Amino acid sequence: MNILGIETSCDETSVAIVENGTNVRALETASSVKEQAAFGGVIPEVAARRQLEFIMPVISAVMAHAGCTKLDAIAVTKGPGLLTSLLVGTATARILASVWKKPLIGVHHTLGHLSSAWLACAEPIAFPILALSVSGGHTELWFRESHTRGMLLGRTRDDAAGEAFDKGAMLLSLPYPGGPAIGQKAEGGNPHFINFPSPLKDEDTCDFSYSGLKTSLKYAIRDRGGIGALSEAEQKDVAASYEEAICRHLVSRLARAVELHDVREVHVVGGVSANARLRRLISQAINLPLRFPVKLAYCTDNAAMIAAAGEFLVRELGEKAFDEFKTEAACRQ
Ligand code: KG4
Ligand code: ZN
Repeated sequence: MNILGIETSCDETSVAIVENGTNVRALETASSVKEQAAFGGVIPEVAARRQLEFIMPVISAVMAHAGCTKLDAIAVTKGPGLLTSLLVGTATARILASVWKKPLIGVHHTLGHLSSAWLACAEPIAFPILALSVSGGHTELWFRESHTRGMLLGRTRDDAAGEAFDKGAMLLSLPYPGGPAIGQKAEGGNPHFINFPSPLKDEDTCDFSYSGLKTSLKYAIRDRGGIGALSEAEQKDVAASYEEAICRHLVSRLARAVELHDVREVHVVGGVSANARLRRLISQAINLPLRFPVKLAYCTDNAAMIAAAGEFLVRELGEKAFDEFKTEAACRQ
């Protein structure tokens, strides 16, 4: 199938056409992230206004680039996310589906991330897998037997890993989004400069917790006289230590899940999976076939993963894949 995917859950307006859940024929993403950087986070009203401006030009660009006129279905992120941003995508998808007489598939945003490992992936993927999905909005560890059957093994009890990067960046006077900014600052820094406490270290759980780490960073900076009192080298060391603590927490839970569950592959997806230090640590710790999205553009929010998820929902659920959108409130999870 050729599926048109639409993703507007936050500050990206992304549209793609994906063939058979893997071949990305076109992907275009416009973003208000630079504008949001001035506020240190996403302002929902600003994001939604930009979504409205971007959506039709981005759809037109994708239709022109893909060079295909035959579409089989439309898949759109139904949630979770910013309500006003989601409405732009879901309303547009409904109108296009009605005018073009195409079936409409509502896709949960996390299922989109979980499907991103299939994009442009040359070899077949073998279930069962363990999948760690780490973004600004969620941190989840899944045991997956198929695209529609799985078990949530653990999730964050408070902040998401990406949120820990974003909030940490504010404390370090670095721009939003914090993940890439901290990653860059941490290059060449000493990851053992500060020994941040390991969250939930006395619990045998696959859950995560990040709010304590952020507070530890706050006090570490305060105890050194504030960020302005630190030399450039010390700031790099603090950023590297904080990045290390965030990544090691993810790695420790993933390694525990690998001990507990018999799987054939491990996938790591979502915006934080773009992090180079995380990739290195996971590669060292996990002794199983490991997959990350093949392009960085497939880690962060993008419509190709939504189109791929739509394809897999139809393959496994048949007609029911279309019912899901009709029977649920479009943007509520
Ligand atoms: O998946 P995503 O684009 O959106 C959500 O679903 O939230 O993830 C965005 C998150 C942000 O918190 C951002 O700081 C983080 O992913 N991120 C990174 C990197 N690139 C994006 N975190 C660490 N290292 C990166 N290179
Ligand atoms: Zn996301």
